[in-house]
Amino acid sequence: MLEELALLEQEIEKYHPTTTQELEDFRLKFISKKGIIADLFNKLAQLSSDEKRTLGNRLNIIKQRAQEKYKAEVIQLQTTTKKSIATTEDYTLPSPTDTLGTIHPISFLKTKIVEIFNKIGFNMVDGPEIEDDWHNFGALNFPANHPARDMLDTFFISQNPDILLRTHTSSVQIRIAESQKPPIRSISIGRVYRNETISARSHCMFHQVDGFYVNKNVSFAELKQVLSYFMSSLFGQNVKVRLRPSYFPFTEPSAEIDIDCRMCAGQGCNICKYTGWLEIMGAGMIDPNVLENCHIDPTVYTGYAFGMGLERVAMLLYQINDLRLFTENDIRFLKQFKAYT
Ligand code: PHE
Repeated sequence: MLEELALLEQEIEKYHPTTTQELEDFRLKFISKKGIIADLFNKLAQLSSDEKRTLGNRLNIIKQRAQEKYKAEVIQLQTTTKKSIATTEDYTLPSPTDTLGTIHPISFLKTKIVEIFNKIGFNMVDGPEIEDDWHNFGALNFPANHPARDMLDTFFISQNPDILLRTHTSSVQIRIAESQKPPIRSISIGRVYRNETISARSHCMFHQVDGFYVNKNVSFAELKQVLSYFMSSLFGQNVKVRLRPSYFPFTEPSAEIDIDCRMCAGQGCNICKYTGWLEIMGAGMIDPNVLENCHIDPTVYTGYAFGMGLERVAMLLYQINDLRLFTENDIRFLKQFKAYT
């Protein structure tokens, strides 16, 4: 044991930690409760009382020495790091540039869409994400218990009265129409929620933009014109737009809007399911019942409405193949959008 102690003493003297990690290694190896010295103290118990006394004394001295050395090395390390900072810092250098954040593709698209519609006189309006049944369904001509409500898998927060997470941004248009007099020309953009399984192609939370125009003598031809202006501003002049008859409870007649597939230039691929067309938007003339629900006289005023999911468009514009990427906050994904800032 004597020899062991002599070696230990030497080892402690030789140790010169130069980093905080090495200093911590020193503490763990020699001083900590699980270190060599504590271990040797435990071993003393098995020795005779004479040996215990002499070796114990020696071990105590070594322990003290290790602690003193540790304290001294802590001070030493602090002063050398301070000194090295002081000597290496060059205050004449330009300050390091802050890493710039990037704009989320959905935020970017939102701004772009607002800009496009601002140019033709649409105001951006906002509304609550937690809605009542009337603004999300009732006023939009979804009668209670009507099967059309099954089109949208709703997250209910409470029942009687029914409070829910809005399933579309059309609810905001109702709030605006209730509180303003025509002419109304508004777009609402924001998050919507539907009880759907999360996968590469669907999500329980996504973004929509809704447009709404009410005035005297508004025609379907105007709707068509506004939509082709919007599509060509977003996708480029050469985009082809097609309208197909469809059904929404709040518009009559209703249409679904397709554009020629951006991935294959209309040739047919797995994204457009070999049709050459991509469904992108719902639209139509506002149902007279909806206008009445908002205290607007449908014999005097007509209007059109349209709605579109933002994620789908962002996926097409930036060739993104998984919807989940938008909400996962993976910095490797987000960083790629620097060019759009
Ligand atoms: N609100 C519809 C939806 O969520 C979209 C839409 C808006 C359709 C306005 C027609 C008119 O699918």
